[in-house]
Amino acid sequence: MAAGSSASAPRIRSMLYVPGDDDRKLAKVDSSPADAVVLDLEDSVAPERRAVARDKVRAFLDARPRASRSLQLWVRINALDDAALVDLAAVVGGDPDGIVLPKVDGPDDVTRLEHCLDALEVREGLEGGSIVICAVATETPDAVLRLPEYASARFTRLAALNWGAEDLSAAVGAATNVDEHGRWTLTYRWARSAVLLAAKAAGVQALDTVHVDFRDLDGLAAATRESALEGFTGRVAIHPDQVEPINRVFTPSAEDIALAESIVAAFEQASGPTGTIGIDGVMYDIPHLKRARRLLASLG
Ligand code: COA
Ligand code: MG
Repeated sequence: MAAGSSASAPRIRSMLYVPGDDDRKLAKVDSSPADAVVLDLEDSVAPERRAVARDKVRAFLDARPRASRSLQLWVRINALDDAALVDLAAVVGGDPDGIVLPKVDGPDDVTRLEHCLDALEVREGLEGGSIVICAVATETPDAVLRLPEYASARFTRLAALNWGAEDLSAAVGAATNVDEHGRWTLTYRWARSAVLLAAKAAGVQALDTVHVDFRDLDGLAAATRESALEGFTGRVAIHPDQVEPINRVFTPSAEDIALAESIVAAFEQASGPTGTIGIDGVMYDIPHLKRARRLLASLG
């Protein structure tokens, strides 16, 4: 369990995408409450604008040396069989905190990116292993079928898995990915669950996909509460208004923290080794203790 990865990155509750060629949106990044911003070189940028976007993203990173950053600055590159290498050659010198790799076909693609980063970090004089990776792990049918392999793969830089439904539905030729009630159809629910499990098996952060209706903040909050209850640890945002509701859901409340502290304290103060305790008439056992410890550890 949890043996697949050795990379750790600061916790990401919200990861806001910003098209890399859009000055107005880039200007909003510094004041964003997002934990991480993804400067996008892929599908939010028209192919003929990629060169412009690379220059802007590199300049953006150069102007914000890592030690001065108040939030993590990631870059989404293009797929490995597309313009990934050109993107990497352009942006790694700006010392991004992480790279989002889209359209992976499986864990081997993550390993390929790790090797590219090994070389580029040397070229740029950066600390080895300092740039971590988030793989978008469901965008091709191969990728979905190979998700269980993350449990046994060994990585040096993988820090998070994310999933996406839009590219997968295009790849399988589906007319839609939701039913008449707006819920994911089975293929996408299955892919989503498999990513959650793959992330847990690999010991990395599990980030839920985008809520595309960016004016529907109530729907976003409700869906994100479900994500958190299921075990996702953060979520992608595409609009600044989505960041606060996402952060709120993934920030433990004062009551959650107080309960976790009292569970841990009760186990520690028990007269001898025990697997179960009672607090205010409620029974707590080892899974509750683990959850309480995990919550307290996530506070940093
Ligand atoms: N990051 C930073 N700023 C953003 C932003 C983002 N992702 N999305 C919107 N803004 C800014 C807008 O520029 C606008 O500011 P301005 O009036 O000073 O220009 C303000 O926030 C309000 O935006 P709004 O008018 O509500 O939305 P919009 O119509 O301008 O943009 C989208 C809507 C969906 C096009 C835009 O949110 C977007 O580009 N999102 C990112 C898409 C993306 O990266 N997709 C790939 C990952 S799935
Ligand atoms: Mg995509």
